[in-house]
Amino acid sequence: MELTVNGSPREVDPARFPTLLAALRDQLGLTGPKLSCDHGECGACTVRLDGDLVYACLTLTATCGGAEVRTVEGLAEGSALHPLQQAFITHDAAQCGFCTPGQLLAAEALLERNAHPTDAEIRTAMSGNLCRCGTYPKIITAIRAVADAGKTP
Ligand code: FES
Ligand code: FES
Repeated sequence: MELTVNGSPREVDPARFPTLLAALRDQLGLTGPKLSCDHGECGACTVRLDGDLVYACLTLTATCGGAEVRTVEGLAEGSALHPLQQAFITHDAAQCGFCTPGQLLAAEALLERNAHPTDAEIRTAMSGNLCRCGTYPKIITAIRAVADAGKTP
């Protein structure tokens, strides 16, 4: 079955890799999306599917034929980091980094639909992505900085 991952056509096998997370990580070697709760509770596996945010651990590969998938590996352009990636570094918004790929994609989706979110809107938009290290204030600061700079992804 074919889908497009970060702009490139890729073949995946739904029989061997029944969840999108398994297909991305174990078949295609894209380990940015993380396996944590495996139950749709933490957001570590967040990817974008035709622009929408989804938990890849709950998404069946068989339903993704022809879809456009975006993972954290698709954010940077060559050696140029995405503005959100740079802001997360600048504002020290990652500690262990396990949640960061999902956080970045959720933030990207937020700023695409709302270029100037309030802090409350940022908190609401990011509520599906948990951080065990508790970096929430710094994550909000990083997203705020990108929004205020007008660097809409
Ligand atoms: S690993 Fe998918 S939501 Fe936690
Ligand atoms: S930075 Fe460690 S879980 Fe978020």
